[in-house]
Formats: sequence, C-alpha cells, structure tokens
Amino acid sequence: MSDARVLDGKAVAARVRAEVGEQVARLAARGVRISLHVVLVGDDPASAIYVRNKGRACEEVGIRGVTHPLPAETPEADLLALLDRLNRDPEVDGILVQLPLPPHLRADRVIEAVDPARDVDGFHPANLGRLLSGRPGVVPCTPAGVLRLLDESGVDLKGRRAVVVGRSLIVGKPTAILLLARHATVTVCHSRTLDLAERVREAEVVVAAIGKARMIRGDWVREGAVVVDVGMNRDEAGRLCGDVDFEAARTRASAITPVPGGVGPMTIAFLMRNTLQAACARRGIALD
Ligand code: GUN
Repeated sequence: MSDARVLDGKAVAARVRAEVGEQVARLAARGVRISLHVVLVGDDPASAIYVRNKGRACEEVGIRGVTHPLPAETPEADLLALLDRLNRDPEVDGILVQLPLPPHLRADRVIEAVDPARDVDGFHPANLGRLLSGRPGVVPCTPAGVLRLLDESGVDLKGRRAVVVGRSLIVGKPTAILLLARHATVTVCHSRTLDLAERVREAEVVVAAIGKARMIRGDWVREGAVVVDVGMNRDEAGRLCGDVDFEAARTRASAITPVPGGVGPMTIAFLMRNTLQAACARRGIALD
C-alpha cells in the first residue's frame, strides 16, 4: 500500500501567476497595458464565483480585468453585439464568455463570435483546429493546467496508457489531444462507456473530468498510477469534492491532485498566461 504524493495545484498555480506577473510588469514598463474582458450571462452561482476569482487573479498579476455582467434573458443578438464591440476594441487583449450559458443562447454561435486572436479559452474552432493539428496557439486553460500538474508529478507520458474520463469541449477532448501530442496512448471514456472500471484499471495516468462526485472508486486505480481530478462537485453533505474517491485512491496512486487545491487554481493561472500570450501575439511581441 503506497501513499500518493499530493500534487499541490495551489503552489504550482502561484508560481505560474508569479511568472506571468513578472512579464506583465516588464511590458507595463514599456507602456503596454493588458486587459481581459469576461462576459457573464445570468446568475449561476458557481459561475459567479469563478468569475470573481478570475478578477482577483487579474489584479494579482497586473492585468486589467473587466467583467460584463448581463441578465439571464439577454437576447443572443445583444450578446453578439457586445462581442463584436470587444473584438474591434484595440485595448481588448482577451475575451472570455463564461460557460455554461442560459439555454436560449447557442454556445457554438457565441464561441465562434469571439475573435480567435482574443479567445483566451482556446475554444474557437480555429484555435481547436490549431491544437488538433499540432500548431502553436492558445491551449484551453484547464487542459494546460492538467498537463502542468502531470509534469510536476514527474511522469514521462511517452508510451504510457492514459485514460481521460469525460469528453467535454472544455476539458476531455483537448486534454486527450495534449496527451497524444506527448505520445501517450490515450483512451477517452464517457457516460456511455460500458466497462469504465476496467478501462480505468488499465491506466497509468487517469484524468477524471466527468462531474460526478467520487465516481472513480479507489479500487479502480492502478497501483502507482498518476491521478488528476478535474471534478468540482458537492457531496451529499455539501462538501466540495472531486470525481475521484480521494482517500481511497491515494493509497494506490503514486501521485494525485486534491479537490479543492488541485486543478482549479491551475485553470485560472493558465487563463492569465493565455491572456499574456494573446496580448503579445496580437502586438507582435516575442514572449520570453
Ligand atoms: N466554465 C467552466 N470552465 C470554464 C472555462 O474554462 N472557460 C469558460 N469560458 N467557462 C468555463
């Protein structure tokens, strides 16, 4: 019985933010001011918390963060008009539309309306196409954070069996592509997978992104596996927990991320980095 190394996402994220902060300060000294515009439609409480945390991170690294709160019943045309205005504003470096959107708004349509050069989520089809074809570009924040935590675990992904549980646009699909680019052998499982426990048992690397509290049981985790838990759920008692049964899994894994304090802070740190990257790319400034 091993006891896994707990990968401290909070600490790693603080290092990423500090690196970004240094570069933002250097740009500011040259008169370059960077801004991130976050559009929040409706009053989903979880989204409101995420957006507030994004604002705090902006403040910490020296990026001007602007939130555009819109009522839940905002017509799609109004949201598209706002995005059009932001796309044309030379002062705007990054644009993010917080998801999920209210059901009357077509997420695909909205994501496509963000200028790919300002799309700091990396969700625009042009940016996802770059990712899929291995070209340099913006990488979605949570998958970038997942890969960084895997790097921190010291695992060499080349040739390893990696299982991604979840196939969302935000996490599962881009994470699978990033793992493939690192030469892992990747299986993507999802809600219709018939033999999920068996697939997870084979995995040397597990990325859980399904959104179901403690669905990945400890005895599904292979001895010595590296486990990254993207889940952010509430259990029956109302406590924050991941998609993995942490206490059981840590006795078998070699490294594991906690919830909270694992992937969550990484997402926001990489959003800061993507904003810096977009600002530099749009202005033709090389990032060092
Ligand atoms: N909702 C949950 N995660 C994300 C994210 O990474 N980006 C956006 N835009 N919305 C989200």
